[in-house]
Amino acid sequence: MQTSSSPPKIAILGGTGKEGPGLAMRWASAGYQIFIGSRQLEKAKSTAVELNAELGLETIVGLENADAARQADICVLTVVQTAHQAALESLREALQGKILVDATARVDFRAPQPPAPPSAARIAQDILGPHVRVVAAFQNVPAHALKKNLGQPLDTDVLVCADNFEAAQAVICLAEAAGMRAYYAGSLDNAVVVEGLTSLLISLNKQYGVKTASIGVTGLEKD
Ligand SMILES: NC(=O)c1ccc[n+]([C@@H]2O[C@H](COP(=O)([O-])OP(=O)(O)OC[C@H]3O[C@@H](n4cnc5c(N)ncnc54)[C@H](OP(=O)(O)O)[C@@H]3O)[C@@H](O)[C@H]2O)c1
Repeated sequence: MQTSSSPPKIAILGGTGKEGPGLAMRWASAGYQIFIGSRQLEKAKSTAVELNAELGLETIVGLENADAARQADICVLTVVQTAHQAALESLREALQGKILVDATARVDFRAPQPPAPPSAARIAQDILGPHVRVVAAFQNVPAHALKKNLGQPLDTDVLVCADNFEAAQAVICLAEAAGMRAYYAGSLDNAVVVEGLTSLLISLNKQYGVKTASIGVTGLEKD
């Protein structure tokens, strides 16, 4: 359990794929305790071993998703988009009392179009109930960018949507610890816009032959 002086412990649920490991490595490098979650314990453990080896650490631990969620203060959901609802339903009990960060981008690879409300993050809040504080973030941060130049700041901004401002602030701190700028962008309903931007970023990647297109906000002053 987190105390006021200790940093939050972080679980990455579905942390064995493309997006989760990059976030895990950046937070582990910044000194956070990380639990990599998977449906399969062995897969979680082998991802943790790989990431520790890459960073020269021994602090990343692999667990089944529900165990990872129970050990953490803040859980970051990075399961494949199509498993979003089923994963949340199966982890509902383990997530009670936590902050759940939903990184789900709504990308239709067949026919790109703006997603319709409700946002994936709003769906998550409805599934998890009032004792979980859902925060939408990192949907526009490409896995390739996270893994590139580890230890260096990322030239990217994160729009953080939540109904609970305190939970949003906690996630803004995490984004900054991982080398990103982050801003509170309103309620969970606003997340539908952020989730839809990722399709546009994929089009930009194709157009410009990169894998790292992300977003930047201008005109805001931040300490
Ligand atoms: N990739 C990116 O650049 C990027 C950028 C921004 C946001 N996102 C978002 O981040 C999330 C993860 O994206 P990704 O590219 O990392 O996905 P991914 O690599 O395709 O999959 C991530 C993990 O999802 C788990 N998974 C697969 N099927 C599942 C199921 N039926 N039930 C539960 N878990 C399942 C797998 O973990 P186990 O087999 O170990 O359980 C897998 O390692 C998505 O919502 C995506 O929109 C991705």
